[in-house]
Amino acid sequence: MENLTADWLDKLDQGLVLAIESSCDDTAAAVLRGNKVLSNIAASQEIHAKYGGVVPELASREHQKHIVPVVRAALEAASVSPEDLRAIAYTRGPGLLGSLLVGASFAKSMALALQLPLLEVHHMHAHILSLFIDDEANVGGIPELPFLCLTVSGGHTQLVVVRSPIDLEVIGQTRDDAAGEAFDKLAKLMGLPYPGGPLLDQLAQKGNPERFAGVFPHPKVEGLDFSFSGLKTAVRYFLQAETRKNEHFIEEHLADLSAAIQATIVGILMQRVAQAVAQTGIERVALAGGVSANSELRNTLQEMALRNGWAVHIPSFAYCTDNAAMIGMAGQFLHASGRMGSFASAPLARMPF
Ligand code: KG4
Ligand code: ZN
Repeated sequence: MENLTADWLDKLDQGLVLAIESSCDDTAAAVLRGNKVLSNIAASQEIHAKYGGVVPELASREHQKHIVPVVRAALEAASVSPEDLRAIAYTRGPGLLGSLLVGASFAKSMALALQLPLLEVHHMHAHILSLFIDDEANVGGIPELPFLCLTVSGGHTQLVVVRSPIDLEVIGQTRDDAAGEAFDKLAKLMGLPYPGGPLLDQLAQKGNPERFAGVFPHPKVEGLDFSFSGLKTAVRYFLQAETRKNEHFIEEHLADLSAAIQATIVGILMQRVAQAVAQTGIERVALAGGVSANSELRNTLQEMALRNGWAVHIPSFAYCTDNAAMIGMAGQFLHASGRMGSFASAPLARMPF
C-alpha cells in the first residue's frame, strides 16, 4: 500500500528553519531540523489576566519587547547561528493584526538581512501539522494520510480532512463561539480568571459530571457544524436562577458544574467526530489546538478510538497551545513544496483556510 506520510517525510531534508509565532498573546520562536524540534521558546504575557481577556494593543507592545530575546534564546538553545538557517517561517494569520505585524516585520527584516527565503504559515494549518513533529510525546505517532483532525483553539473549531500537509479541507466549523472561547466564557460566568479553560479542566477532575447531567443542552445544528452560544445562554440562566435561591451556589458546586460543562462541550465535539468518521470513512482521528490539552477531551477521544478501532493522534502538551515549533513544521512542508513566501505579503487578521 502506498504510504503518503512516508513520501512527505522523505521530502524533508536536514535544513534548519527558524520559526516565529506572534498571532495572539505568546511571543514564540523555534528551530527545526527536518521534523525535529531543536528548540521551542515562548514568552507568555501575564498582563492580560487582570483585564479578563487579551487586550490587542498591549499584546503588540509585549511582542515588541519579547521578540528579540525570544529569537535569540531559540537560536542559542538550538546551538545554531543565523548563518546556518535555510529559511524563516512566520505566522501570516489568522490572529490579532498588531501582534502578527510584529512577528511578520521581524521575520522579514531578518530574512532580508540574511538573504533567506520567507515561509508564510497559516496558524490553523500549523496546529494540525504539529502532529508531524518527530516527538515521542505526541500520542499515536505521526498519522498516516489522509486523516481527520478536530482543531479546537481559542478562536477556531474546525473538522478538517488532511489529505497532505498542503492539502487540507474544512468540512465542519463553529457558527458562533470556538470551543476554547466557550470554555473561557463559561469559566468567566463562574467567576474564574482568564483564560478559564485550563482551570475549568483542573476543577472538573475533582467533580461529578452526573450531578448536573442533562441540565446543559446540545445544539440543534445540521451537518458537521458546531454551535456553543446556546450552551452559554443555558449556563448563564441556570446559574442566575440557582444563585437567586442560594448566593453561594457556584462556589459550593464549582467542581461539579465544571465537570458537567466540560462533559457537555466534549460530548458536542465527539458527536461530530463520530459523524465525520461515518461520513468520510476515514478512521484516523487527530486533535489539535489549545483545547486538545483538555484531559477529558484527550481521554474521551482515546476511549472512542479504542471502542471503534480508529487510529488516534494527539499532540504533546508542548504543541497543543500556541507555539513556534508547529509554525516551523508547517514551514518545512512549504519549503519542501517550493512554496516560498513574498516580502510584499501583509499579515492577515482573517486568512482563508
Ligand atoms: O491554540 P491556542 O493556544 O490559541 C489560539 O490559537 O486560540 O488555544 C487557546 C485556548 C484558550 O481558549 C484556552 O482556554 C484553551 O485553549 N485551553 C483549554 C485547555 N488548555 C488550553 N481549554 C480547556 N482545557 C484545557 N486544558
Ligand atoms: Zn492557536
